[in-house]
Amino acid sequence: MVKICCIGAGYVGGPTMAVIALKCPDIEVTVVDISTQRINGWNSEHLPIYEPGLEEVVKECRGRNLFFSTDVEKHVAQADIIFVSVNTPTKTHGLGAGKAADLTYWESAARMIADVSKSDKIVVEKSTVPVKTAEAIERILTHSRKGINFTILSNPEFLAEGTAMKDLFNPDRVLIGGRETPEGQKAIETLRDVYANWVPMERIICTNLWSAELSKLAANAFLAQRISSVNAMSALCEATGADVSEVSHSVGTDSRIGPKFLNASVGFGGSCFQKDILNLVYICECNGLPEVANYWKQVIKVNDYQKSRFVNRVVSSMFNTVSSKKIAILGFAFKKDTGDTRETPAIDVCKGLLGDRARLSIYDPQVTEEQIMKDLSMRKFDKDHPAHLQPPSPTSIKQVSVVWDAYEAVKDAHGVCIMTEWDEFKKLDYQKVYDSMQKPSFVFDGRNVVDVDMLRKIGFIVYSIGKPL
Ligand code: NAD
Ligand code: UGA
Repeated sequence: MVKICCIGAGYVGGPTMAVIALKCPDIEVTVVDISTQRINGWNSEHLPIYEPGLEEVVKECRGRNLFFSTDVEKHVAQADIIFVSVNTPTKTHGLGAGKAADLTYWESAARMIADVSKSDKIVVEKSTVPVKTAEAIERILTHSRKGINFTILSNPEFLAEGTAMKDLFNPDRVLIGGRETPEGQKAIETLRDVYANWVPMERIICTNLWSAELSKLAANAFLAQRISSVNAMSALCEATGADVSEVSHSVGTDSRIGPKFLNASVGFGGSCFQKDILNLVYICECNGLPEVANYWKQVIKVNDYQKSRFVNRVVSSMFNTVSSKKIAILGFAFKKDTGDTRETPAIDVCKGLLGDRARLSIYDPQVTEEQIMKDLSMRKFDKDHPAHLQPPSPTSIKQVSVVWDAYEAVKDAHGVCIMTEWDEFKKLDYQKVYDSMQKPSFVFDGRNVVDVDMLRKIGFIVYSIGKPL
């Protein structure tokens, strides 16, 4: 039986390995992590991450050919293929702080692999890493241990949260990069055979290491760029009376552009777009390409602009002050169908409103009060670094309350900000919402989920991204 070990039981490691275990009953898959809390979660009834369809797969495979363990060294030593899916956040200090990827966790995983291995291994980069990381990892592995062959592959992950299981079952492509040597090609074939259990061969792209590493950063940069492009248009729509949904539709019907990923919003969030673009910017700068770096930097700048534009709109519409006014925040996760709040635009919007002394009542169906309080007290880039590097989270923030029902959040509020496109926000009884709010009642829709005409008929003053005022 082939043995796979995945280091890192997070949003990528957990779901990816669950799907491999389901589709490859002849492979034994063990996911390991230094976080006991995470592993306990994976072994319990309450998985540590929320992802539609994940629980069913884990329940089917766990204990059969899918295992979760904190005994990192034992399982790494026994594995034939080791996936490394640890966090690669933005550096918070030192050279490249605020831009470069922090490879501390990757490097410590590589050193541990080198230390405990007693047989040949294929080591797979699953984390998103700077181009040329495989070279550094190869050096660590091959120099630390003589007589053992380590072959490095790059196999970046393209799943999106909220649709991870769907994306893993039916990926647009699986990308495998390896050295152009006989060993490299043999390792590529071994990994390709794993995916071939459910992915059609024509969707498995095999390439060299550097192309695979860079393709991942490029894909995220292109995706984020589309959002910043449509968000930049949304500002122009508001200034001119055009409707961004109609513009997106018209633009997206061009088959060369395509209709997906053109939804204007309060800004993109998530753990990766910002960090991967910053990383790309840093790599460009290090390679003496300041013009290319500036081009990609602009994608982040427009995203930051969109978030501050939203806050300014709320404050200016509500007679230039939200001081002591209750504002309901509907949704805190960075997108629907996930409880993940990493880089969620809600954090910046809430901090902006708190800066103007608003009182916030926050509701999200998947995010806990503890998480929200932590997010609102954390510094930029601290997330994804270990807890001991993070400031202790206060048990509460004076002007913020977290509630477990949308109607509770809006009660007596002056304004409502929709931050996440949860389906339930489309279906709220807005007459009931209106009746319970202070007047005039404002709705600021950061996700374009409400029916603007219907809400205006009820009596709301509505502001929707990129829509005529
Ligand atoms: P995560 O923070 O959810 O999980 C990473 C896990 O690695 C953590 O549980 C951490 O405890 C563990 N870890 C860190 N160092 C370790 C070590 N030395 N030994 C054992 N465990 C260790 O991160 P994630 O969201 O799963 O992302 C992982 C990587 O995948 C990142 O590089 C990210 O850019 C990339 N990625 C993420 C997504 C996504 O949707 N989240 C999608 C594609 C790619
Ligand atoms: C993204 C990519 O889509 C994945 O392919 C990639 O693997 C992943 O990053 C990663 O490397 O981490 P994810 O961040 O989970 O996935 O979710 P997306 O669906 O891409 O959404 C990202 C953000 O953009 C969300 O805040 C979402 O609301 C926003 N968005 C998305 C828009 O504002 N408009 C759109 O049209 C699409």
